[in-house]
Amino acid sequence: MGRLQNSVSMMCADFIDLKSSLDTFSRKGVDYLHIDIMDGHYVPNFTLGPDFCARLSAHSAIPLDIHLMIENVDLFVPTFSRARGSLISFHPDASRHPLRTIDLIRASGCRPGIAIDPAMSLETVKAMLFDVDFVLVMTVSPGYAGQKLIPRTLEKIAELKTWLKKQGIAIPIEVDGNVSWENLPRMILAGGDIFVTGTSSVFESGALLGDSLDRISRIFAEHERSGA
Ligand code: DX5
Ligand code: ZN
Repeated sequence: MGRLQNSVSMMCADFIDLKSSLDTFSRKGVDYLHIDIMDGHYVPNFTLGPDFCARLSAHSAIPLDIHLMIENVDLFVPTFSRARGSLISFHPDASRHPLRTIDLIRASGCRPGIAIDPAMSLETVKAMLFDVDFVLVMTVSPGYAGQKLIPRTLEKIAELKTWLKKQGIAIPIEVDGNVSWENLPRMILAGGDIFVTGTSSVFESGALLGDSLDRISRIFAEHERSGA
């Protein structure tokens, strides 16, 4: 869990220039492609879908990091688990029995994660964290790119990190929402391991994609942790 990782947010990518962006991601060693799935019900927005996931995994060797912001999660696990080994996170308030959903994702050959809304307390999800491969902490409310960090979520990451250590649960914390140049170092210090980079950093307008990815790598290198 020592290495810091970059999961680029595909909803923020330039769809007209996707092929060249994917080449740049590979060249620059991007760790995951973060794919936000919204259904217009769980969140009031629509973004990417299963065909997009299939096209990406056919054209890129970078693993998928699928973030389900949908209701009826169990119903759609088979649809989103086609690329084996993908990370798949879901919001536990959208599942009647989250432990069953976790098992379902694992049985489909993918790696389950719990996503925590900023308004959801850690207490609510602790009983689920013994069974997942990662935990995603949302630092903005789910649904849209380009929102402002909710600062209290930084303390939540730190508290979660301490609790996981105490329990001996060695899973990474993914941080999603307003991972900006300014916020990223604070999120790393709080205990984040995987960072979803979107409009606030990698896809900010006016900068070259390759340069922004290098800038992320430099910040990671400056903050690289030793051991756990
Ligand atoms: C929501 C998304 C957004 C977004 C991240 O789940 O993952 O948080 O794409 O990019 P920002 O917040 O930098 O626009
Ligand atoms: Zn997301």
